[in-house]
Amino acid sequence: MGISASYAIWSSRSIYITGIIHPDILEKLRNTVKLLVIYSSIEGQTLKIAKHLVSQLGVEQQADFIALDDLAAQHNIHDYDSVLIGASVRYGKFRPNLYKFLAKHQQVLESMPVAFFGVCLTARKPEKSTPTTSVYMKKLNLNAVWMPELQAVFAGALLYSKYNFWQTKIIQLIMRITGGSTDTSKDIELTDWSKVDKFAIEYTELLQKHSN
Ligand SMILES: Cc1cc2nc3c(=O)[nH]c(=O)nc-3n(C[C@H](O)[C@H](O)[C@H](O)COP(=O)(O)O)c2cc1C
Repeated sequence: MGISASYAIWSSRSIYITGIIHPDILEKLRNTVKLLVIYSSIEGQTLKIAKHLVSQLGVEQQADFIALDDLAAQHNIHDYDSVLIGASVRYGKFRPNLYKFLAKHQQVLESMPVAFFGVCLTARKPEKSTPTTSVYMKKLNLNAVWMPELQAVFAGALLYSKYNFWQTKIIQLIMRITGGSTDTSKDIELTDWSKVDKFAIEYTELLQKHSN
């Protein structure tokens, strides 16, 4: 359960970032929020971040995780109270099925609290780590039919052990240009978990607002 790593307390009107999510709020979320987590993840870092967010909210029991590729007609978004979307960047962009998903389900998504987070290696640089400074997030916001207001972008993981020959060469080249690690003997997780925890607080706040 996520209380220890969280940052908010509850007052009668809102949540303030100070230390922990008040147990009463977590209890309320546990009792009321059925969550759909849609993820687009190749090596698994986006899914790992999504699982961490859900554990911070303490709603693991009421969360369904569905890969974007596996989303089918029988999955009815109307059955859920909220949707959390996480997607990683590959070769300079989010995958086309993310755009299709946002367009196809715009109407229902607009009617509920939705949060989106992107994952990429560029976001390891502070100056490229917000929705307004990340080139991928800017492109997504410009080109997607609809995007939720609550957004974040997190640094992902450099997992040389999982890349094939050409992927290794490409990532090494990018790392050489951008000052990252080219050492293929080491995997490096660049995700800033404290930033993910802060996003969990913002998401809690959004859920709280919609439940009032
Ligand atoms: C083949 C490949 C291409 C990638 N392209 C980009 C890119 O264009 N920009 C970027 O910032 N990160 C890029 N990445 C880094 C991934 O976004 C990062 O490793 C992320 O953690 C992957 O998340 P996932 O495991 O959920 O798919 C790329 C990674 C691979 C393996």
